Amino acid sequence: MSVPTTRRMGTSGSELADAAALLLAGELVALPTETVYGLAARADDPGAIARLFVAKGRPSDNPLIVHVASMAALARVTAHVTPLAALLLERFAPGPLTVVLDAHPDLPRAVTAGLDSVAVRIPDHPVMLEVLRRCDVPLAAPSANRSGRPSPTNAMHVLDDLGGRIAAVVDDGPTRIGLESTVVDARGTAPIVLRAGAVSHEDLLRACSGVVPEGSWGDAATVRASEPRAPGTRHRHYAPDIPVHLARPGEGRTTAVAVLGTLRAAGTERPRIGLVTTGPGTAGRSEAPLDTTGPEADIEHLGAPIDASALARDLFAFLRRAEERGLDALVIEGVEEVDIGRAVMDRLRRAAEASGGSAS
Ligand code: TXA
Ligand code: MG
Repeated sequence: MSVPTTRRMGTSGSELADAAALLLAGELVALPTETVYGLAARADDPGAIARLFVAKGRPSDNPLIVHVASMAALARVTAHVTPLAALLLERFAPGPLTVVLDAHPDLPRAVTAGLDSVAVRIPDHPVMLEVLRRCDVPLAAPSANRSGRPSPTNAMHVLDDLGGRIAAVVDDGPTRIGLESTVVDARGTAPIVLRAGAVSHEDLLRACSGVVPEGSWGDAATVRASEPRAPGTRHRHYAPDIPVHLARPGEGRTTAVAVLGTLRAAGTERPRIGLVTTGPGTAGRSEAPLDTTGPEADIEHLGAPIDASALARDLFAFLRRAEERGLDALVIEGVEEVDIGRAVMDRLRRAAEASGGSAS
């Protein structure tokens, strides 16, 4: 399918009606959610799903997340909502939690990449929910980036990656959370976390304590990260074009100076480094400004998120900005690994690893 221009839409009733009509006709439309922008296609239309994989350049063995507007609509996606899934959805839906369940026999297997399981969530975003209700079919929606790029957290990111390849994007400004949903296998009696997200290990523990059978639950160790069971984790993810170096809070400037030295020694002419700080003594917190005449002259301070939630919101935009500015490397200070901080550090480590940077 060739789409010469991608329509950028607002969120008026008539525009959302248009977006729903495009989707029902089998077109691809990017929509905002509370996590990141998703590229939607009707889940019951194998042709639309095939076009979605092509537009993203997504490997066909990486299954999609299906979005529905309500618990009642879950029945179109799975024939069996386990007690565990019911418990988790009761607590976290609508919201940034995706549950993996047995796939409904009628669901096209292109959506699940041939698996007999399906990932499904009820997003917490009025635009996405309104379009789902108007369409009245489940919508498959992976993050609306070209495969291997950071997930898009505003409409411009979507257009940069997919402009001319999709019918439309509905622009509702930047997304609230900024990282993708937590993916949990809920087919058994205890949740297995396949991808960290805004619903944290701590949240899951609180929701399940006293409910999930004794012995299968009890401490964070039972909320296992299970890499091989999340097909998407096999693929190259969060791979910016430039090396990302992860530094401890408060050590970013030192790391950036060291990276500059290494680049100069390797013969890079006038290297420029981006810096994102989170630690004490960073910008906005009585920090001395970068010394633009000394060793810090070629460091650009891109931002100083005040906590893990703020870094989650802006992280993917920082990665994209560093590339756009033609920087030679990006140094990002980490955050404490608690609550959403775990998901942030998960994405930062992946970015560092996939880009050939370092993680301290
Ligand atoms: O927040 C989000 O989840 C966003 C918004 C748009 O909803 N969507 C998103 O989708 O991040 P995507 O396709 O970029 O990531 C889906 C992840 C992948 O890692 C995929 O492998 C995993 O979910 N997944 C999908 N179906 C699965 C299944 N049946 N079993 C295990 N993992 C599955
Ligand atoms: Mg994705």
